[in-house]
Amino acid sequence: MTTTSSPIEHGLVDDAPAAPEGVEPLQPTMPGVAYTAADYFAAEQASLFEAEWMCAVRSSDLAAPGAFERVQIGRESVLIVRGRDGGLRAFLNICRHRGAMLCTEDSGQVRRNLQCPYHAWTYGLDGRLIAAPNMAAIDIDGSLDRQQYGLVPVHLREWLGYAWVCLADEPPSFEDTVIGSVTERLGSSDTVERYGATDLVVAHRQVYDVAANWKLIIENFMECYHCATIHPELTEVLPEFAQGLAAQYHVGHGAEFGSEIDGFTVDGHEGFGRLPGLTEAEDRRYFAITVRPGVFLNLVPDHVIVHRMFPLAPDRTTVICDWLFAPGIEGVESSVELFHRVNVQDFEACERTQPAMSSRAYRNGGVLVPAEHHILDFHEWVTERVGPPH
Ligand code: FES
Ligand code: FE
Repeated sequence: MTTTSSPIEHGLVDDAPAAPEGVEPLQPTMPGVAYTAADYFAAEQASLFEAEWMCAVRSSDLAAPGAFERVQIGRESVLIVRGRDGGLRAFLNICRHRGAMLCTEDSGQVRRNLQCPYHAWTYGLDGRLIAAPNMAAIDIDGSLDRQQYGLVPVHLREWLGYAWVCLADEPPSFEDTVIGSVTERLGSSDTVERYGATDLVVAHRQVYDVAANWKLIIENFMECYHCATIHPELTEVLPEFAQGLAAQYHVGHGAEFGSEIDGFTVDGHEGFGRLPGLTEAEDRRYFAITVRPGVFLNLVPDHVIVHRMFPLAPDRTTVICDWLFAPGIEGVESSVELFHRVNVQDFEACERTQPAMSSRAYRNGGVLVPAEHHILDFHEWVTERVGPPH
């Protein structure tokens, strides 16, 4: 099997779809400033990352009571903690006394409580203030409201084995936004459940520090116009991707494995069969789903790949990618290698694009070809919430 491919071999240009009648074939992208300006990024932090549901941690990473992880959501440091009752909770990672950052490690394990490293105010795993030095002088008659001076809670929901958090006072409906976007893409609400992602285990995790704006990463993920050029391994496994049609975004459509392909692996050799809940319709198929603003989900017969994005600056995004397999499976290297290569290829492309965002050549943006026109929906979604870039 060859591992190279080229746009010409795959007839990319000739096979590309035309724009519908009356629609200009070249549509504008957002202007460069939307990808570089500190004030636009700050507006996105406020109106998107701190307003929508963000996928924060893999629940099973916080197995025992006292296990914690902190994540950056918009401008806030958020702490996710496993409680003594077994539940997960999220709090702002800020001491209520004089505001010291409570947990300075990215993850860890405490025994029974969380103690501020500054003046030692101490909080239970449920966030309540439970002790402070000289407490008798603070709580003279024992009436101090420990909840009121407890850690500030953050909304949390668990789904697909992940804890999702939302910083909004009144979060948007999780069912309508997160679950709704998956359902809309797959054409049914139970397809994703059949993969059983909650009970799969993280066989591999890769953290990518990408020097690119988060929107470039989403836009790249949403289109397949680049697939024939930069993804030789992926287009071998999924020949229709070489046509650049973005067929992965048609409702209910999963890209079919090539006839010579035995599994979703770097060289197309056999993987691990299919997950127990799957039907014939999901076998030998790849589904890609974007959950705005920060998750990409990939479903293949024997595993699930979940990307969580954490936009840190206009030109910097951390992407954490988990490969989830059935428990007990070993030897996943060639399965992992396929999408790891795809990730590296994609993120390098995004990094090559980022410097151009501040060039005068991109002052008014670039253009989207017909196979990329669905990206306009994403731009509209952003500008509706954040406002137009200026
Ligand atoms: Fe945390 Fe003082 S700032 S105890
Ligand atoms: Fe790609």
